[in-house]
Amino acid sequence: MSVIRTQVGIVGAGPAGLLLGHLLHLNGIDSVIVENRSRDYVIDRVRAGVLEQGTVDLLKAMGVGDGLERKGLRHDGLYVSFQGERHHVNLVELTGGKAITVYGQNEIVRDLIDARIATGRPLYFEAEGVSVGGLESAEPTIAFQHDGTAHEVQCDFIAGCDGFHGICRPSIPDGVLTVYERTYPFGWLGILAEAAPSCDELVYTCHARGFALFSMRSPQVTRLYFQVPPEESIDNWSDEAIWNEMLTRMTTHDRWKPNVGRIVQKGVTPMRSFVATPMRHGRLFLAGDAAHIVPPTGAKGLNLAASDVLVLARALKSFYERGRTEWLDGYSDTCLRRVWKAQRFSWWMTSTLHRFPDETPFDHQRRIADLDYLTSSRAAMTSLAEQYVGLPAEVSFESVGLSAP
Ligand code: FAD
Ligand code: DHB
Repeated sequence: MSVIRTQVGIVGAGPAGLLLGHLLHLNGIDSVIVENRSRDYVIDRVRAGVLEQGTVDLLKAMGVGDGLERKGLRHDGLYVSFQGERHHVNLVELTGGKAITVYGQNEIVRDLIDARIATGRPLYFEAEGVSVGGLESAEPTIAFQHDGTAHEVQCDFIAGCDGFHGICRPSIPDGVLTVYERTYPFGWLGILAEAAPSCDELVYTCHARGFALFSMRSPQVTRLYFQVPPEESIDNWSDEAIWNEMLTRMTTHDRWKPNVGRIVQKGVTPMRSFVATPMRHGRLFLAGDAAHIVPPTGAKGLNLAASDVLVLARALKSFYERGRTEWLDGYSDTCLRRVWKAQRFSWWMTSTLHRFPDETPFDHQRRIADLDYLTSSRAAMTSLAEQYVGLPAEVSFESVGLSAP
């Protein structure tokens, strides 16, 4: 068996694990990242697209923002569409200058893998049989097989960044975690299409047939979603049927609609809200989707993963540089304050814009009134805008050795 000694063992090379590894590297803290999928699989997984202002600032301050600056699409606003009308929400004006940037999660992951490899620090792909142990001891371990050899990573701390279906959270003994969960009676059917975006900002649509969302990935690629039953099989949807449904839900009275093009990727995603607390057990710290899931409507999941990582990096830096443990001890509470606000926002966006299967005519009218109020009140739009671009971080960039934006 090969034994590897490091300071922080990181399980998962998604956005959370890779960001943490790089922030620790910038602070001279060693780590080993263990990922069970292949490099191509991790990069090709099509997921998030919307980055909060703070996530954009963080990536740039960490020196991994070149791709983002070249290819990211800054959006100063968004549209909310219902009853055939699009209503503009000017994010920049309502938040004193903050915007969002559309840049694919797979591009971020690619940039972060390149940055990791350039540091020369270890990153194992296609690790098999990954398990964690000794969580309550001072030297926890990560065990796995790689290329037919058994490996054990001995570390001071483990960061569980292995997503919702990972092994870290289930390794915490029964009775320790309290889980808060809500599943929704719908999912999203999402496509990537070779079609120039017909609008330069996102359009969130509430239609009598259900929710739909217009987004993009580049000046040539449109990203679209619509609400479907949660167990819907993508095989039930021909490309023609997908376009019919997209156009039915999204076309507005002024004849605005998405451009149609060849569909290059399609899939169905279930929706849930989930929080496991505390986000720490002994020397294991959970970050990102390993600890919490939001329905995608508020575009918060990746951004929450980034804010957890900032809090964890500050705590580890303070431990290694000054031997202090207060920030490690406060990790879960600090993260959860933001997590619960993002949960509330994502639940509200989801419940207001989607059609529930058991919705009564009263519920429907109430949702329309909610959207009418939202788009006609500056106070309501300001509330949406400040949450959508991201609430202020509790952790400063300086506390993790970065320059303020
Ligand atoms: P993950 O990305 O899940 O990464 C976990 C990693 O751990 C993976 O690489 C996985 O392969 C690996 N792993 C799992 N098990 C093991 C194991 N046993 N051993 C080793 N490695 C393991 N968020 C936004 O902020 N904005 C958006 O616009 C947005 N849109 C979305 C749209 C869709 C359709 C979906 C599905 C999600 C969206 N999200 C969005 C959410 C976002 O994609 C996630 O919140 C984000 O990926 C979380 O990052 P993570 O690193 O915590 O987890
Ligand atoms: C995208 C995904 C989201 O969940 C969202 O709320 C907005 C945009 C996207 O994939 O572009």
